[in-house]
Amino acid sequence: MKKTIAIICMAAMGMSVSAAVIPNGGDDAKMDAFISSLMGRMTLEEKLGQLNLPPSDDIVTGNAIDSNIGAAVKRGEVGGTFNIKGAEKIRELQRVAVEESRLGIPLLLGMDVIHGYETVFPIPLALSCSWDMDAIERSARVAATEASAAGVNWTFSPMVDISRDPRWGRVSEGSGEDPYLGSQIARAMVRGYQGDLKGNDKILACVKHFALYGASEAGRDYNTVDMSRGRMYNEYFAPYKAAVDEGAATVMTSFNLVDGIPATANRWLIDDVLRGQWNFGGMVVTDYGSIGEIAVHGVGALKEASAASLKAGTDMDMCSFGFIGTLKQSLAEGKVTMEDIDRAVRRILEAKYRLGLFDNPYKYNDVSLEKTHVYTPEHRAEARATAAKTFVLLKNEGNILPLAKKGTVALIGPLANTASNMPGTWSVAADLTRPKTLRQGFEDALGTKAQLLYAKGSNLYADPETEAACTVFGRGMRDPRSEEELLREALDVAARADVIVAAMGEASESSGESSSRASLTLPDTQRRLLEALLATGKPVVMLNFSGRPTVMTWESRNVPAIMNVWFGGSEAADAIADVVFGDVCPSGKLTQTMPYSEGQIPIYYNHLNTGRPKDESNPAYQKYRSNYLDNPNKPLYPFGYGLSYTDFDYSGFRLDKDVLDSNGSITATVTVTNKGDRAADEIVQFYIRDMVASVSRPVKELKHFERISLQPGQSRDVSFTITPDDLKFYDYELKYVAEPGEFQVMAGPDSERLSILTFTLAQ
Ligand code: BGC
Repeated sequence: MKKTIAIICMAAMGMSVSAAVIPNGGDDAKMDAFISSLMGRMTLEEKLGQLNLPPSDDIVTGNAIDSNIGAAVKRGEVGGTFNIKGAEKIRELQRVAVEESRLGIPLLLGMDVIHGYETVFPIPLALSCSWDMDAIERSARVAATEASAAGVNWTFSPMVDISRDPRWGRVSEGSGEDPYLGSQIARAMVRGYQGDLKGNDKILACVKHFALYGASEAGRDYNTVDMSRGRMYNEYFAPYKAAVDEGAATVMTSFNLVDGIPATANRWLIDDVLRGQWNFGGMVVTDYGSIGEIAVHGVGALKEASAASLKAGTDMDMCSFGFIGTLKQSLAEGKVTMEDIDRAVRRILEAKYRLGLFDNPYKYNDVSLEKTHVYTPEHRAEARATAAKTFVLLKNEGNILPLAKKGTVALIGPLANTASNMPGTWSVAADLTRPKTLRQGFEDALGTKAQLLYAKGSNLYADPETEAACTVFGRGMRDPRSEEELLREALDVAARADVIVAAMGEASESSGESSSRASLTLPDTQRRLLEALLATGKPVVMLNFSGRPTVMTWESRNVPAIMNVWFGGSEAADAIADVVFGDVCPSGKLTQTMPYSEGQIPIYYNHLNTGRPKDESNPAYQKYRSNYLDNPNKPLYPFGYGLSYTDFDYSGFRLDKDVLDSNGSITATVTVTNKGDRAADEIVQFYIRDMVASVSRPVKELKHFERISLQPGQSRDVSFTITPDDLKFYDYELKYVAEPGEFQVMAGPDSERLSILTFTLAQ
């Protein structure tokens, strides 16, 4: 009688689960009836068990917790777990839930599948630089296919936090600084993971971290956030909302405060905004230990924090054991009601129902798939092609790049010969020994056509402690030799080469969670190496590995060719070789501003004008203007920037009319021509500025873009059809309005090189 009561119920009621696109209302009558019947059999303890999400021990993503998960599952004290790896293991745990717990309710099995499972795609910041929504959706599809083959049915992705602060290590996990682009990407990821949730290769998405986590003060992880409602609605909320509109099944709360109240217990944020205004009908899970941290914020001990979180609309408690440990007492004391608890239980059961787990609790447990569907040649080819689209060519003086496959190439630098640092942060499921090193990638690309020499040249940091901190999780690679010895070897190698490729930058774990940096320049020891390489007088190409925009001001002045390669996933080495040696033309464009110096941070293209803007036609310091005595206002490389191996010409920017009716549209068109001699992709960008509004509006905002392919000499018209919806913003009363008056529309290859036209929105 113990066996899967849930399944028996379904069969008895003659149901087949139609796992439709996740609805926002949960109004499916069959589902409601089924869940009501199941809940009618649950004890209070079993209900609280469903709200509990303890970690597994396989992959560590937070403070260690000894969870003895199997026994707890059997006792019905667990609604799901996460970061357990391996199809067999997961199947066994699901079996315990289904066959050995009293009600046989299947588990949610989550994982941080953030940019791939075993086949790792580039870090999300890099992915965003492709501006390729189809490729991004496919990356999520591959990730879901692999993760589900290994038993995972829920991913803690997409991470959609807007950030304007590259000191914050978690910018690597997001899509940069722009709410419009971030929203498109959020939607693409949700589609890729969830699709229609039919079949056993679609998994639940989890939008995170709700909300505003990317605005942590001073770029220090987990730090305070405080901002106006206007800024929230206009600048930070859009990607979360877009993911919800796309049907994301779950949302994760953030660690930070919102208006002084921790997000997890913030009723306004969860109940009013997310559920009320955005009509989110899915399940809300906390971040790792967030309820416990409410006490540390000074806003209530575990019992009070748990009650407040439940009341606020949070359903599932990740790792705090606050719901399972204290809600019974709070219920007895009248601090929470049975309705509060039931509401949360229902949402969790609905997520399981929509996944189809009550129809078939082993839906994700065909263990044979792990061997056939993971790290396949097709997936790896997709990851390689996608990675090549994410690299951003920052400088290419004298067209040094692409390199010819001939002569002698010296590959030098601390990131040239490390496999484990290729995939990037949050490649928690990947086997870090498996990726090729860049050196192997180059060897394979060059074959017998050219000679490849290698030297490490330097460690990442001169100081071993800093290096150890950013090469955790098996990514260590310190060379015991002295700096002088390493440098000497590198110069010997350089002396024998025709061209030098310097593989430098950060280690993989220098970005990601808990990896804030105050200084974003190349570490001294690498800088010394770079200077020495440049002093040889040979052509030098710098490949900058980074999980964030770094400060490249010195390099941009002194190194003739620079390409930002981020962390490109398990196939990064081949993808980098593809671009360096010209089999693929670079096409990535920055989605987060690269600052000139750390002192400019926060820096972002869509800023307000101030009452005293600097006259940018004059670079000199201007008294009584908004500028620095010692630093330009302009970034080193702006949002949207990136070069190609060809040149694109923008011409004939035009509008089909100059008055937009309140229910009409205007079409802006620009002609883009490939002036070079090779086929290439270009990312064409359109921006809008509201010239006069009831509140100050940004100097420009991205509103449309298109990634196009052009043959040599080919021209194409690219259009943006503007409707009043594109002009809307949240006004002082937080009403979403388009205000009549004058607007600018801009088109160009990045956020600075723009042609401008004006039009009027009629009354
Ligand atoms: C991170 C989340 C992650 C969770 C589970 C937390 O520390 O902030 O992004 O999903 O751990 O691993």
